Amino acid sequence: MATEYMELGWIGEKVSRIGLGVWQFSESWGVTEYEDAKKIVEAAFDAGINFFDTAIVYGMGKSEEFLGRAIRELGIRDEVFIATKIPGEMLARDDVFKATQNSLKRLGVDVIDLMQVHWPPCWHNIPTCEYMRALEQLVLQGKIRYIGLSDFPVELVEAARNCLSTTDIVSIQIRYNLVEREAEAELIPYALQNDLAVIPWSPLAKGALTGKYTPENLPEFQDVRAREPLFTRENMEQIYEVVKVLEELSGKYGKTPAQLALRWLLDAYPNTLPIPGAKRPEQARDNAGAMGWSLAHEDWLRIDQVSRRVKISRVTY
Ligand SMILES: NC(=O)c1ccc[n+]([C@@H]2O[C@H](COP(=O)([O-])OP(=O)(O)OC[C@H]3O[C@@H](n4cnc5c(N)ncnc54)[C@H](OP(=O)(O)O)[C@@H]3O)[C@@H](O)[C@H]2O)c1
Repeated sequence: MATEYMELGWIGEKVSRIGLGVWQFSESWGVTEYEDAKKIVEAAFDAGINFFDTAIVYGMGKSEEFLGRAIRELGIRDEVFIATKIPGEMLARDDVFKATQNSLKRLGVDVIDLMQVHWPPCWHNIPTCEYMRALEQLVLQGKIRYIGLSDFPVELVEAARNCLSTTDIVSIQIRYNLVEREAEAELIPYALQNDLAVIPWSPLAKGALTGKYTPENLPEFQDVRAREPLFTRENMEQIYEVVKVLEELSGKYGKTPAQLALRWLLDAYPNTLPIPGAKRPEQARDNAGAMGWSLAHEDWLRIDQVSRRVKISRVTY
């Protein structure tokens, strides 16, 4: 399997261009047995993935625990990059230290490679510089190596960076996939100008781009997708126009629609590192197979054009 690496933002550290998101290791998505999680981590690593994204809130710590244990048991700590996230509710100065300490313990590591602020503090009125400087101190103490931001608008990314004096953030994590392209307006150009890595989450639109789901064949989701606007009939009818093109190109490239959807993101910008989630080892392997080849420009443009027509509505009631 051909791995493909990129340098992560300005730090120049080598990471695989496809990562593995492990929110799936939680009740939200349904991988709740450790042995199942371990097989997914192993399959991803064997297929060339060395970047793993978790968060404190995923399964209230379960995802961190499973990921850390799998990495330890597989003996691959020195070869992987572990990214986790601290939620917007835990950003008071003392909480940043406490939460990081708990994360280190759950992951079973001495240092976290990338600590991301999961989302800005929305309702506790914590000043931006309070948590950014606490994170900076954690870098100086050697508890975390790098800082990233997730789900921040550009204005707040700028404000957060201005709080730091001895380091800078290395990445922004954003909702970005073929049918949700809002980040192209401001966030991605900003990241390119400032040498920051872009980590697209839900890069497969939560499975809507894989070809498994059609407007006529939509399960009653029992997981986090039960209330996901992407899966309304109105939105799925539009998304399916993109899926049809991916399916058509599947034969030409010998790749699955999921691989084509991920490859499109990789070819769109040089600094993207999508982190598809996988519920089974085969999915992790399939997603890793988006690395090591490229779309012909005319095919990239064809997907681009059909995807530009999609206008997802999040008004569901
Ligand atoms: N920063 C944030 O706020 C934020 C928010 C959301 C997610 N994330 C991160 O991003 C990661 C990925 O996002 P996501 O899980 O929301 O969505 P996603 O990666 O777009 O979709 C994942 C789902 O698609 C299906 N799938 C995956 N690979 C497949 C393949 N090759 N073929 C067919 N189906 C496949 C699986 O579900 P089924 O098999 O059941 O269809 C899987 O659970 C998460 O694990 C998490 O680490 C971050």
